[in-house]
Amino acid sequence: MRHLLDTRTLDRTTALRILDIAEDMSDTQSREVKKLPTLRGKTVVNLFFEDSTRTRISFEAAAKRLSADVINFAAKGSSVSKGESLKDTAQTLEAIGADAVVVRHPGSGAPQTLATSGWISAGVVNAGDGTHEHPTQALLDAFTIRKRRFGADSRGQDLSGMHVVIVGDVLHSRVARSNVWLLTTLGAEVTLVAPPTLVPQNVSLWPVRVVYDLDHALADEPDAVMMLRIQLERMNAAYFPTEREYSRRWGLDARRVAALPGGSIVMHPGPMNRGLEISSEAADSPRSTVLEQVTNGVSVRMAVLYLLLAGERDDERGGDL
Ligand code: CP
Repeated sequence: MRHLLDTRTLDRTTALRILDIAEDMSDTQSREVKKLPTLRGKTVVNLFFEDSTRTRISFEAAAKRLSADVINFAAKGSSVSKGESLKDTAQTLEAIGADAVVVRHPGSGAPQTLATSGWISAGVVNAGDGTHEHPTQALLDAFTIRKRRFGADSRGQDLSGMHVVIVGDVLHSRVARSNVWLLTTLGAEVTLVAPPTLVPQNVSLWPVRVVYDLDHALADEPDAVMMLRIQLERMNAAYFPTEREYSRRWGLDARRVAALPGGSIVMHPGPMNRGLEISSEAADSPRSTVLEQVTNGVSVRMAVLYLLLAGERDDERGGDL
């Protein structure tokens, strides 16, 4: 794999390959093998033009667990504030020795530009670009859903026959977009639930069902309910109901969680607006996989970095990768 830019163009075989390698990575971590030598001598640059807690830290942990060197770059406090361009910033970091660049950027398409412009030769991983995609979040979400369903027998399984309901600010959500493409590629049925003003205009081109009533969608007994963060910072011209009305109509609270079937899980990519799209009772309930998703994110990102920087030949992996 040369780059990971989106899930829209990620084929089923490659997606399952990433999830299966992530299973292997997860196994090594649970056996308390803290570090693998796989990427010794490689350098991973985290190039973040937007804030992040989970994604940046878990890419750093993933790279370090594979023995890579890590350089963290945050636009805040850098020469970006003096007007330095994406091209010059990326070329500067490559001159320092980057083998892979993990990029988060407010502009949709920035990782694609880095990967295809010829400015740098390093592999590029999209860590979230504008409202476009966040592929590693979708991969860790799919990993979590699969793990909850199949447990130790997850390897090789797709999500056929499973139903995932994604709720909230779909309009601004790169997490929703990456999940729609990946989950449906893996065979799941996806229903989107949102206020009409937070549904993208081109949603009829997506392989999903759209409903506006959360209780109606939950009555279908989904396997997973994925709550999205309300992105107040991107709300611009979109009409947003009052926070009270939003949480009453589209928020996941204890009553709605209690009405879900026994095996349903409650997901959120984080960071959460507690009391708005999800109540504390729902976020902290035994059905919540919020922290499990974070843990799984390290294994999934180890798998992605492994495929980018060490190739994927089985003979290179050996028994313990
Ligand atoms: N889920 C997610 O992308 O979280 P961060 O913004 O903290 O990285």
